[in-house]
Amino acid sequence: METVLVIGANRGLGFGFVRSLLDRKHFEVIATARDLDRCEKLTALKDHSNLTLLELDVANEDSRQDFIDALNQQPLDWVIYNAGIYGPHGLSLGELPEHEWQKVLHVDTVAPLLMAQALLPNLRADRPGRMAFLSSKMGSIADNGSGGSYLYRSANAGLNAAVRSLAIDLKPDNIPILLLHPGWVQTDMGGPNAPLQISESIQGMIEQIRTLDMARSGSFVEWNGSSIPW
Ligand SMILES: NC(=O)c1ccc[n+]([C@@H]2O[C@H](COP(=O)([O-])OP(=O)(O)OC[C@H]3O[C@@H](n4cnc5c(N)ncnc54)[C@H](OP(=O)(O)O)[C@@H]3O)[C@@H](O)[C@H]2O)c1
Repeated sequence: METVLVIGANRGLGFGFVRSLLDRKHFEVIATARDLDRCEKLTALKDHSNLTLLELDVANEDSRQDFIDALNQQPLDWVIYNAGIYGPHGLSLGELPEHEWQKVLHVDTVAPLLMAQALLPNLRADRPGRMAFLSSKMGSIADNGSGGSYLYRSANAGLNAAVRSLAIDLKPDNIPILLLHPGWVQTDMGGPNAPLQISESIQGMIEQIRTLDMARSGSFVEWNGSSIPW
């Protein structure tokens, strides 16, 4: 059995990861939600003896510490960092909101690295674990041909830069790190017009994580393995 932690798992792609990993039978899955009293879809899976639910709001320092304490030095084979927000939609230049922008940067850029830092003992504990971060192609500067989306683009570009450093710094520990773009997927964030179903994206991303080795550590790839320019 391998132990996988999925951060931000109560809906969308995070929930998709949990369902798919439980189906594979050889994973112990630890799934997090911001409020365990309001995560009906995860609660409905509680008959699976290989599922543990823990509360975590990645933007809240006390919640992060409580979560790390609850994890109690459990060795982790995989960490899938999925939690993320887009921020307000349809903002034009001239109306960029300082507070909302800070919130998106906090959740999408700062919190993932604080969590990675806090989880290092769990990744180093037994055999070296692996870590995948859900990013977005919208964080690619080279791919930005349409402008706009300042909050989400800058937060994901920042995530990419920081995770790239993490991958370099963790090379001596043999901990491989991956940045994943899930595709444009039908979730609350992706909306109903997205071309990809959750199951297809998840299957592809799990394969990318499963086959990740140190040679590919620090790369930024789509759900199907195609590399994305920075
Ligand atoms: N869907 C797409 O097309 C697409 C494309 C590119 C990248 N992505 C990335 O893929 C990831 C998942 O996206 P999604 O489409 O599944 O989004 P989603 O449906 O909006 O779900 C987002 C998840 O993140 C959690 N979350 C948000 N803020 C959190 C916080 N402070 N603490 C803990 N959890 C928090 C949410 O929990 P609550 O339910 O409590 O809010 C929810 O479980 C995100 O990182 C996103 O940027 C998605």
